[in-house]
Amino acid sequence: MPFKPKNEPFPLPFEVYPEDWFRRLEAEDVFPDRADAFTEVDLGCGHGTFVLEMAKHFPERNYLGVERLLGRVRKVSRGARKGELANVRALRLETTYAVEWLLPREFADRVHLLFPDPWPRKKHHKRRLMCQPAFLKSVHDLLKPGGEFWFKTDHEEYFDAALESLETIDFFERQPWPEDEFYPVTDFEKLWQAEGRKIQGIRLRRR
Ligand SMILES: C[S@@+](CC[C@H](N)C(=O)[O-])C[C@H]1O[C@@H](n2cnc3c(N)ncnc32)[C@H](O)[C@@H]1O
Repeated sequence: MPFKPKNEPFPLPFEVYPEDWFRRLEAEDVFPDRADAFTEVDLGCGHGTFVLEMAKHFPERNYLGVERLLGRVRKVSRGARKGELANVRALRLETTYAVEWLLPREFADRVHLLFPDPWPRKKHHKRRLMCQPAFLKSVHDLLKPGGEFWFKTDHEEYFDAALESLETIDFFERQPWPEDEFYPVTDFEKLWQAEGRKIQGIRLRRR
C-alpha cells in the first residue's frame, strides 16, 4: 500500500517540538501558563495510557510523556486532544537525551520509568537505564529537591540489578511503595500481569 500522509499539522497540539533541540528548555516552554504546577514525567511512555489516566485523575498536575516512537507519541497527543487534557504534553525523543540535555533542571516532582526494556542478554546489560549511574544522576538533576523517581519492572533479574546499582550511589533514598496511591496499570503491565509475571517497583526520593 503506498504511503499516505495523514492530513494533520506537524507537530500536533499537545506535542513539544523545540525550535532549538540543542538548548535546554525552560519549564514554560513545555507547559506555558502552568509551569508552577506539580509536574510528572513518564520516560518511555508507550501509547500513553498511564499518562492520560493520571492526567484525567489529577487535572491540577502536569504530565509529560517522553517516547521515541512517533506512532506512540501521536497516540498520546491525540488522546490528550480527545480528552481535552490541557495538562498533557508528549515529547518525541530518546530518554537519555531528553533527561540529560533538553529538559530543565529541577523540572519534575516525579519521574516514572515503567517497564523499560530489561535488555536480558548479558552483553546488553550495560544498556539498562537503572544500571547507569550517569542516567540516575541526570534523573536526580531533573527532579526538584525531594522529588521522586518511580521504577517498575516485570523482570526479576533487572530488578535485582537495579537494586545493586542503587547501592553505588548516595543521591537517592528508597521509600516504601504505597499501596493506596492512584497508580494506573500501564499497557505493558497488563500484558505481563496476564502472563502471571511478578511485578516489582522501586520508589526513590531525591536527597
Ligand atoms: C516496554 S515499553 C513500556 C511502555 C510503557 N511505559 C508501559 O509500561 O506500557 C517501553 C517503551 O519505551 C520506549 N523506549 C525504549 N527505549 C527508549 C528510549 N531510549 N527513549 C525513549 N523511548 C524509549 C519504547 O518505544 C516503548 O514504547
